[in-house]
Amino acid sequence: MKIRYGQQEDFEWLRAQDNHVGADWIKRCLHHGEYIIAADDGEILGFLRFSLFWGNIPYMDMIRVQDNHKRRGIGTAMLNFWERDMRARGAKVLMTSSVVHETEPQDWHKRNGFQECGQLTFGQHEPTPEVFFVKDL
Ligand SMILES: CC(C)(COP(=O)(O)OP(=O)(O)OC[C@H]1O[C@@H](n2cnc3c(N)ncnc32)[C@H](O)[C@@H]1OP(=O)(O)O)[C@@H](O)C(=O)NCCC(=O)NCCS
Repeated sequence: MKIRYGQQEDFEWLRAQDNHVGADWIKRCLHHGEYIIAADDGEILGFLRFSLFWGNIPYMDMIRVQDNHKRRGIGTAMLNFWERDMRARGAKVLMTSSVVHETEPQDWHKRNGFQECGQLTFGQHEPTPEVFFVKDL
């Protein structure tokens, strides 16, 4: 398995799999190097998409491993790859978040060193609280 940054060739796969954002945002993230991909022999097994909160704090918007490849260390490998690179670029913390009732990914974040730091709601866009996590590097 190889962990690498997303490339233009990944666009169609991401358009089919990364359903939370539109095609323009996927193109933008690919252009800015904001996708990390896990692949094996050309098959994509999972992706991590990030952005920069306040323009300088790495924020993991989404991490997903294909159902038939979960619990094989792929999510952790993508997170470690991202963390190493963000640290090398001078980041002092990482951020992520999850809808309050999704306790499974929250357990996974905690297992990987993230600590809960608060909850927010987003007006009419999302009245269900979102739990935020930070990881000190
Ligand atoms: C969360 C997710 C990215 C983890 O990736 P993964 O490759 O399956 O996880 P890893 O193999 O790196 O780590 C697995 C370990 O984490 C722990 N863990 C806790 N909660 C877990 C969960 N919901 N899923 C997987 N592992 C979890 C387990 O201890 C597991 O080890 P074990 O199998 O020995 O018990 C993946 O399950 C996924 O895509 N989930 C759906 C999307 C999602 O919820 N994303 C996060 C919010 S954006």
